[in-house]
Amino acid sequence: MDEKQVQEHFRKQVGDYAGLMNRIIPEYETGQRFLCELIPFDKGQDIKVLDLGSGPGGLSELALEMYPRANVHAFDLTEEMLLLCQERLSKYEGRVTFQQGDYKRDTVGSGYDVVLAGLTLHHLTDEERKSVFQVIYEALSEDGIFIAREIIVDDDPFITEWHYSIWRNFMKTNGEDDEFWYNKHKGKDHPVSIENQLSWLEETGFKHTACHWRYLNFAIISGRK
Ligand SMILES: C[S@@+](CC[C@H](N)C(=O)[O-])C[C@H]1O[C@@H](n2cnc3c(N)ncnc32)[C@H](O)[C@@H]1O
Repeated sequence: MDEKQVQEHFRKQVGDYAGLMNRIIPEYETGQRFLCELIPFDKGQDIKVLDLGSGPGGLSELALEMYPRANVHAFDLTEEMLLLCQERLSKYEGRVTFQQGDYKRDTVGSGYDVVLAGLTLHHLTDEERKSVFQVIYEALSEDGIFIAREIIVDDDPFITEWHYSIWRNFMKTNGEDDEFWYNKHKGKDHPVSIENQLSWLEETGFKHTACHWRYLNFAIISGRK
């Protein structure tokens, strides 16, 4: 998807974002919390967090709540999402900054202890993903950590199809048009297996790469600088 298509796609989700995520992403809330629980720093430490593809700011808010001395930079392409994010995080004034931009080409800042990416990198082609991994690596301070929730595929196509059918059933049970979301995913996303992502992270220079959680075609992975 080009920049305009990505923005259009996410603009349509602004109205009932959290509700929609809970209906189409299995264990959405659990995953959000777990992403932040994985942050390997003391809760009382001053940490600088980049929330890449922050959307309306749910993940940023959790990080700000769970790490009372954290400062968060919320970065997103879609203006409407960022406006919601600003509204939601207004009570954290002084601890949060915002940037509208495209992480494929705009600078994202530097010196971060943590880079979070919640369900945002799946539009990238393999080459774009590798180059965004590089951007993230460079944006991190020494010992910094990158933690992402990703839509994935299995190395075994049989397993991938099996998981797709359970995922579709999950969406249908929640009253969503599973055909619509499945076709959208197949047409626009570039899901990558956990193994490939971890090995690309290692090629970039990340250490201690790991998959901490997997549920069907969703996973939480990390790499440490
Ligand atoms: C599915 S939402 C995820 C939001 C949030 N991180 C979460 O976990 O709920 C994906 C977000 O990534 C943003 N996004 C997609 N591509 C982007 C890019 N190239 N640069 C910046 N943000 C991007 C979209 O605008 C959207 O808000």
